[in-house]
Amino acid sequence: MKIGVPKETAAGERRVALIPDVVKSLKKNEKVDVVVESGAGEAAGHTDAAYQEAGATVGAADAAWGADIVLHVAVPSAEDISKLNGNQLFISHLNPWVAADTNKALASAGVTAFAMEAIPRTTRAQAMDALSSQAAAAGYAATLIGARESGRFFGMMTTAAGTVPPAKVLVLGAGVAGLQAVATAKRLGAIVTGFDIRRAAWEQIASLGGRPLELDFIPDAEGEGGYARPLTDEENAQVRDALAENAAKQDIIVTTAAIPGRPAPLLITAEGVRNMAPGSVIVDLAAETGGNCELTQPGQTVVEGGVKVIGTRNLPSEMPAPASQLYAKNLENLLGLIVTEEGETKVDFEDDIIAAACITQSGEIKNERAAK
Ligand SMILES: NC(=O)c1ccc[n+]([C@@H]2O[C@H](COP(=O)([O-])OP(=O)(O)OC[C@H]3O[C@@H](n4cnc5c(N)ncnc54)[C@H](O)[C@@H]3O)[C@@H](O)[C@H]2O)c1
Repeated sequence: MKIGVPKETAAGERRVALIPDVVKSLKKNEKVDVVVESGAGEAAGHTDAAYQEAGATVGAADAAWGADIVLHVAVPSAEDISKLNGNQLFISHLNPWVAADTNKALASAGVTAFAMEAIPRTTRAQAMDALSSQAAAAGYAATLIGARESGRFFGMMTTAAGTVPPAKVLVLGAGVAGLQAVATAKRLGAIVTGFDIRRAAWEQIASLGGRPLELDFIPDAEGEGGYARPLTDEENAQVRDALAENAAKQDIIVTTAAIPGRPAPLLITAEGVRNMAPGSVIVDLAAETGGNCELTQPGQTVVEGGVKVIGTRNLPSEMPAPASQLYAKNLENLLGLIVTEEGETKVDFEDDIIAAACITQSGEIKNERAAK
C-alpha cells in the first residue's frame, strides 16, 4: 500500500499534508510505503532528506499522485484531479458544500474522495477535525497580523519616557478561530473583548481572560450541532448597531463570524469603519465568504479614513509548520479508520465518520449535501 504526498500547487499554499514525524509513525506498519514529491515540505520547513530519514521515498509528482491513497491540503484544481486515476482514495480539503465542479470532477475521475471539511464535529472525530486545527492556526495568525499592521504595543509598556497603554482588541465570532484570537491577544497583553451570538461562547471568552460583550437582547442563537443559527434581518441590524458603538473604541478588530454554508454575517458597516480612529485595523477572517465588514475585499487591504481593513485568505498557510503538523496528525488519525494492519484500504460506511466525510465513490457523488 502506497500513500502519496504531492507538492501543493495552489497559489500561496505553504502547508504539506504529511510531516516527517507522521511519516515515521505511519511506517510502523511495514505494509505501508510513503512517497513524497520532491520539495513538497519545503515551504513548511521539511527537507526531502528529512522525509527520507523518516522512511519515505522521495520521488516525482507522478509517483505521489499515483499512490493508492493521495493526501493533499488545498482544494484540488481540475489539473490536480486529472493526475488521479480511478482506483484511488483522495483525502483533502474539497470545499464540498460549495465547489460543485470539484465534486463532479472527482466523481468523474472515479476516485473515492474524502473532504476534511465534512469530518463530523463529534467527540470521537475531534482528533481528525481539520476545521478546528486549521481555524486555531488562522485565529493565531490573524491576531499577529493585527498586531503588526496596527504598529501598536499590545501590552502596556512603562518606560522612563512614559507609559503606553495596552491595545484594545475586539474579537467578533468566538468559535475555534475567534477563541484562539482572544487567547493570543490576551497573551500579548491587550485588553480583549469578545462577542458571539451563542451564549455558550461568552463563558469561553471569559475563561481565556477576555471580556464577553453580553448583548442579551438577542436570544441565544445556538442551533443544530452547536453551530449558530442565522439571525433574522432585524436581529442582525440590532447587533450591528450595538457593535458599532463598541467597535469605535477598538484599536484592532478580528472578525471570524460564520454560519456554515451561508455568506458571512455583516457585522461592521462602512460607517462603523469611518467611526474608528485612524491607525486602527480590522482583520477579517470571513473575507472569502463575503466578509464580516462591508469594506472587506478578499486578499486585499482597503484603507478608509486611515483604518486598514485586511481581507485575509488562507491564513493557516501563514503558519505552515504548526498548521501542517496538526493537519498531518488529523490525517493520520483518519487513516487509522481506513488502512488495515495488512496494509489494505477499507472504506466502511457503517462508520459515521467515513460515511460523513466520503464525498465521491464509484463515479458518484455519495454525500447528499454535496450532491445538492
Ligand atoms: N468536536 C467538537 O465537538 C467540536 C469541534 C469544533 C467546534 N465545535 C463547535 O462547533 C461550533 C462552531 O465552531 P466553529 O469554530 O467551526 O464556528 P464557525 O467557524 O462556523 O463560526 C465562527 C463563530 O461565528 C459565530 N457567529 C455566527 N454568526 C454570528 C454573528 N452574527 N455575530 C457573532 N458571531 C457569530 C458562531 O457562533 C461561531 O462561534 C461551536 O459551537 C464549537 O464549540 C465542536
